[in-house]
Order: sequence, then C-alpha cells, then structure tokens
Amino acid sequence: MRCSTTSAVAAAIAAAISFAPQSATAAEPEKIVDALGTVFGKHKARASGAKGQCVTGMFTPTADARQLTKSASFQKPIPVLGRFSMGGGNPKAPDTAKPLVRGFAFKLDPNGTTPSEFVMVNAPVNFAKTPAQMFGFLEARFPADGKQDPEKIKAFAAANPETTRQGAWLTSKPVPASYAGVSYWGIHAYTMTNTAGQAQLMKFKLVPTGGEAGLTDDEAKAKPADFLVAELTDRIAKKAPAGFDVMAIVGEAGDPTNDPTMTWRDEDKRKTVKLGTIAITAIEKNETCDAGIFDPTNLADGLAGPKDDPMFLPRQPAYAISLTRRAN
Ligand code: HEM
Repeated sequence: MRCSTTSAVAAAIAAAISFAPQSATAAEPEKIVDALGTVFGKHKARASGAKGQCVTGMFTPTADARQLTKSASFQKPIPVLGRFSMGGGNPKAPDTAKPLVRGFAFKLDPNGTTPSEFVMVNAPVNFAKTPAQMFGFLEARFPADGKQDPEKIKAFAAANPETTRQGAWLTSKPVPASYAGVSYWGIHAYTMTNTAGQAQLMKFKLVPTGGEAGLTDDEAKAKPADFLVAELTDRIAKKAPAGFDVMAIVGEAGDPTNDPTMTWRDEDKRKTVKLGTIAITAIEKNETCDAGIFDPTNLADGLAGPKDDPMFLPRQPAYAISLTRRAN
C-alpha cells in the first residue's frame, strides 16, 4: 500500500490554514491540539488516538448502496486503508481500559482519485457538542502539580451533562475483546444522494461480521496491556471474521443533525440498510497510516457531512495540525 505523499501532507496543512469555521474561532482546532498535549503530555504520536495499528482490507458495497448514493466509494469493491486506535493521547494506553473509546479510521479507495474517509468510535455519541465544550472538557483535566483535580472534573460534568453520555455508554459495556469485535459509529449525520438526485439522511454504524466480543472485568484484568494487536493478527492469520458490515441508520424528517452528543429518537430500533462489508485482511506497517491524516470531511460526491454540526468541519484542521506536530 502506497504511503501518503509529502504533497498530501502539504495539502492538509494548507487546508488547515485556510479553514473558515462556522461556529468556532479559527484558533480553536489548534487550542484543542495544545490542550490534548497538556492533558496527555507532549510526544510524537497523534494528539488523540495516539496508540493504534494500521491495517488494510477491501470494501464490497451492496446493490442497495448504489440505490442510495452515486458516491464512487459505493459502486464496486475497493481497497481500504484503516487504523484502529485507543482513545486519548497516551501512546501507552492499556487495551484493558474501559472508559476509553476504541477508534476505527479508514479510507475507502485510499490511492484512488475519489477516496472517502471516516473516523469512527465504538460509541453512538461524542463527548462534546462543540469545539469550545471539547476544550472545556480538556481544560478541566489540565494537571496542576502533575495531578488532575477530581473536583474540577466533577464541576465541569455537572455544568455540561451531555459530556458524560459517551463515558456512561462505554462503562455500561464490556471491555472489547477485539478491535474487530465491537461496533463503531460515524456519530455525525450524513446525507447520501443518488443519481436521481434523491437525498437520504443517515448515520453510519459498523457491525462486526464475527459478532460482538467482550471481556468481563476479571477477564480484562488478566489480559496484557497490549493484547489487541496480537488478537487481531491472530484473527487475520486464522481467517476468522475480521471486518464489519457497513450499515446506514435511516434518518427521518426532523431528525437533528447538529448535536453529536445525542442519538436520534429510537436510533437503535431504526430501519437500517446494509451498504457493504469491510474485510480487514492484513496488518500494515504503522508508517503507512502515520504519514497522513484520516480526514472525515473528505467524501466522494454523493455523500456529504452535516452542515450545522459544529464538531464536523473542525476535525480536518485539528488532525492536520496534529500531523505537523508529530512530523516535527
Ligand atoms: C464526533 C467527533 C469526533 C470523533 C468521533 C473523533 C474521533 C477520533 C479518532 C478515532 C481519532 C484517531 C484517528 C486515527 O487513528 O488516525 C481522532 C484523532 C484526533 N482527534 Fe478526533 N474525533 C472527533 C472530533 C474531534 C474534534 C472536533 C477535534 C478538534 C477540533 C478532534 C481532535 C483530534 C486530534 C487532534 C486527533 C489526532 C489526529 C492525528 O494526529 O492524526 N477530534 N479523533
């Protein structure tokens, strides 16, 4: 798999500099990257999702996907470059931690002319509604004399109850036994448009083809801190299912698109349409993923992100700024 090029890095930085946010100040993505560094310490890894593993595979779309979108990413089988990660900026985060999100970032047709990119986590909601709230969440965790202040964290949570929803979701679930044994959500509301010009509001959910695999708290305690990559390597070697059905959760008129801390009404009972299947077929050297970013705003025509979700567009400049920091 070809590495992202220097010109891709330059383009990402240029886009970050020219970024014109909707409801955030231009400084916010950089402030957040700095804040992640203050909470997790400065290092040469990603500011978030610091610990992870690059992988490759294939995406095979369904005929139903072609009915919903004209996007080049959903017309024929195409390669996938992906990266699984542990949430947060600790490059040594233990794989047994319960309250940390597991992430799955991936590009459909990474070396093609019209790739689509996604950065998903194993929760249906985000922990902040706006970049300013994300900054506040991090600021409440800034260490003083090397220690976080639990009272400050508690006070922020009490004043911003929606920031506790993601953590509550994660702690209500078992520790994932595999990066390929848990569901991931795109969280944001997307719109798919087909060749007839019909638009459909939807959210993405990835459902593991081998089923959910969780650990009890005691089983998790007995696992080494870095078991997830070994498990995935073994799963792929055995040709056990290591992939995801890509599902569209079908949106309805009036569904909000501006709040990533909320699920839609009865979201888990909604009609879903299978858009295709991702099969992870190989572990890839991390340098391939580390050479660039996964930019969730880069989507092949026929698929669009939300226009009014304040968390969507700032992701590109934040990821590009983080890339420059880890490259220097
Ligand atoms: C729904 C909202 C979001 C979700 C689900 C999310 C999830 C993730 C995940 C899974 C990663 C790891 C990516 C990888 O493996 O390459 C990541 C990286 C990161 N996120 Fe987010 N994120 C969200 C919003 C944001 C926002 C709004 C900001 C800042 C404005 C931000 C800042 C970062 C940074 C700086 C990185 C490191 C990027 C890199 O160095 O490649 N995130 N995020």
